[in-house]
Amino acid sequence: MKILFYDAAMYDKKSFDKTLEQFPDVEITYQEIDISVKTVSLAKGYDAICAFVNSDLSSPVIKALSDIGIKLILLRCAGFNNVDLEEATRCGMTVLRVPGYSPEAVAEHAMTLALAVNRHLHKSYIKVRENNFSLVGLTGINFYQKTAGIVGTGKIGSAMCRICRGFGMKVIAYDMYPNKDLDFVEYKSLEEVLKQSDLISLHCPLTEETHHLINKDTISMMKPNVVLVNTSRGALVNTEDMIQGIRENRFFGVGLDVYEEEGPNVFENREDQLLEHSVTARLLSFPNVIVTSHQAFLTEEALAAISEVTLQNAMDYENGSIKDVNRVK
Ligand code: NAI
Repeated sequence: MKILFYDAAMYDKKSFDKTLEQFPDVEITYQEIDISVKTVSLAKGYDAICAFVNSDLSSPVIKALSDIGIKLILLRCAGFNNVDLEEATRCGMTVLRVPGYSPEAVAEHAMTLALAVNRHLHKSYIKVRENNFSLVGLTGINFYQKTAGIVGTGKIGSAMCRICRGFGMKVIAYDMYPNKDLDFVEYKSLEEVLKQSDLISLHCPLTEETHHLINKDTISMMKPNVVLVNTSRGALVNTEDMIQGIRENRFFGVGLDVYEEEGPNVFENREDQLLEHSVTARLLSFPNVIVTSHQAFLTEEALAAISEVTLQNAMDYENGSIKDVNRVK
């Protein structure tokens, strides 16, 4: 099977090339460029394309892929809100993904953001490099014996609950489907979770229902000095409302691995460019906000799991033995 990889980074090549040794029937060509209506033609003659979390898999792109005979889209990620599934179904296209490669990788990054913004590591790192050893402005808060509120307790949210418990925090959560394995977690309504938590971490998927789950009304329910972390999807948070909340000093800190309008920035080196969206610039202007660029998944273990499942998905498709859990529908 010949697969064209779009938006392939160095770490993708390294990890997939290593895994290829176990898949002698697969041939990969890597393209740094991402998929778009203009770049679909590169996939002519291939059996499948492989795309990533922010790749444009909208209706026109899917139609164009179908026109050149592509029947299989391999997503080397868990999320699929970038795929027009109705169009894929109309075109008879199979879309496969990697549902849970390393929940701990994402949860550990969520806690990294929470700790870094709480203890002002982003500031102290720079200060000490400039020989400024003053502690002014670096006071944090203990997480020990505080309350962590986890929204969405699937694979990643559960891992975050366990990490927070390890910090000696009381863990409360909101999910329509409580996870019975988390016997140390108290489930509550979303409103109660927002009202009672000192640290709020978002781990639910982006759906119509969760779009702008964090907005001016829900922010107004939060405790003063709350730490908010989002490693899930940018549009869970209404950024304008959050920026207003930051300006009103409602947050002790905000840690974002994802944010609205991240699209053109994610995984790109844009150091010589002016940013066209004011959201990124405004978020970066606040001293109590840390932004990372959708890197929560990025660990050696997660990359190895992504490579293995993606290539196994390709083989399963070829052999007519697709695992239902990996099928996007
Ligand atoms: P999962 O499917 O295991 O868990 C999602 C949980 O959210 C489920 O328990 C579900 O019942 C719950 N949920 C659904 N709607 C909800 C609502 N309205 N309110 C509260 N809970 C709700 O998914 P997983 O693997 O834990 O991933 C969670 C999210 O993390 C993904 O949807 C994705 O957006 C994000 N993600 C981010 C990555 C990154 O690198 N930043 C990497 C991988 C995933």
